[in-house]
Amino acid sequence: MSAPTYEALKLPSFVETVLVTGAGGFVGQKLVLLLLKLYPNLRIIATDIIEPPNHGITDAKRLRNVKADLGKPEELKGVFEGEKVGGVFALHGIMSGGSEANFPLGYSVNIDSHRALLDAAHKHAEATFPKDHPRPIYVFASSLAVYGAVTPQSVVDPKTKPVVPESSYGVQKHCVEMIVYDYGRKGYLDTRTVRLVTVTVRPGAPSSAASSYISGMIREPLQGQESPCPIADSLEDPALDYYLTWVGRTKTVIRNILWAAVLDEGDLKGVSQERIVNLPGIQITPRQIIETLLKYGGQDKLKLIKFKKDPAVIKICDTWAGAFDNTDALKLGFEVDDPKTGYEGAVQDFIEEELGGKVA
Ligand SMILES: NC(=O)c1ccc[n+]([C@@H]2O[C@H](COP(=O)([O-])OP(=O)(O)OC[C@H]3O[C@@H](n4cnc5c(N)ncnc54)[C@H](O)[C@@H]3O)[C@@H](O)[C@H]2O)c1
Repeated sequence: MSAPTYEALKLPSFVETVLVTGAGGFVGQKLVLLLLKLYPNLRIIATDIIEPPNHGITDAKRLRNVKADLGKPEELKGVFEGEKVGGVFALHGIMSGGSEANFPLGYSVNIDSHRALLDAAHKHAEATFPKDHPRPIYVFASSLAVYGAVTPQSVVDPKTKPVVPESSYGVQKHCVEMIVYDYGRKGYLDTRTVRLVTVTVRPGAPSSAASSYISGMIREPLQGQESPCPIADSLEDPALDYYLTWVGRTKTVIRNILWAAVLDEGDLKGVSQERIVNLPGIQITPRQIIETLLKYGGQDKLKLIKFKKDPAVIKICDTWAGAFDNTDALKLGFEVDDPKTGYEGAVQDFIEEELGGKVA
């Protein structure tokens, strides 16, 4: 079973401190852990509106945790004060279901606070570094949800497919992609946007993402708990084969987010003027999730999946493509899971890393 590689992940020497926003969230926590593992001399500022975990690190020079609402100017300012931030991973946000359900919150966090963060990072760089110093690297986590007018059966070729989002979340992500690009175009920051695939298996509680069931259908039953299947009414429902889903194993996606900071700026611009990359993924079906649950959890775990169609979830999932062309991302050095074994690898990682190797 192939695994991501880390040898090439050398941060430029001028990046001595990085800021990770959304560091209390799923992706942010995993990214901070990888940064801690790979770079013993890097200073990490981990911020979130909730207290981010310290991952057992007590050395405040290595990891500084800041609980801050990035929508509040004073709290945002405090994150940068006294620092020399050479890299930013902008990961905080309100997920797809949450942004659809709470329109003002989605706009305020997913657009306004990101716009303020870019501005703060730019002003911080101007005030902190000399004129000839390289611009800080700025990685923004967007989503493939920016593509609309697709179905789960679509295979998107980004070279020909225009971006027309069909959810507030997708609109918000795309707006910020453009602002991020503009900061790059102006030479204020060295910006890079990565559109994430659905990352699986996500640990913890179900999220507000409409895709939450993709991780939930395996995560909860493996722990002896019930989990909804909101896209089908029964095990015989053809929807289990229809809703093709584009996913990435957690460790592969995290590796790729870091690679986005490391890859050559010229290479990226050669592929995308807007400095945007669709992270590579693999295709799975909900039925495949169930089959993998059977393999690792047994027949009794299947009973814990509660089939009941949820029109709100289906409405969003109907606008997601089931596959994307990976060519550009692979050309740029991003890595992809093995289409045959990648999903099972993701489930094995979850069992080993989050359940201590034990299924309930
Ligand atoms: N996980 C996925 O499958 C996936 C897929 C596509 C895109 N993404 C994007 O990747 C990023 C990380 O995703 P995730 O799964 O870790 O999400 P998450 O919900 O686990 O984490 C997001 C974090 O942002 C924080 N946050 C929300 N509002 C904030 C505010 N005002 N100030 C500071 N922090 C705030 C939350 O507290 C949370 O910890 C997000 O931007 C998301 O849109 C994720």
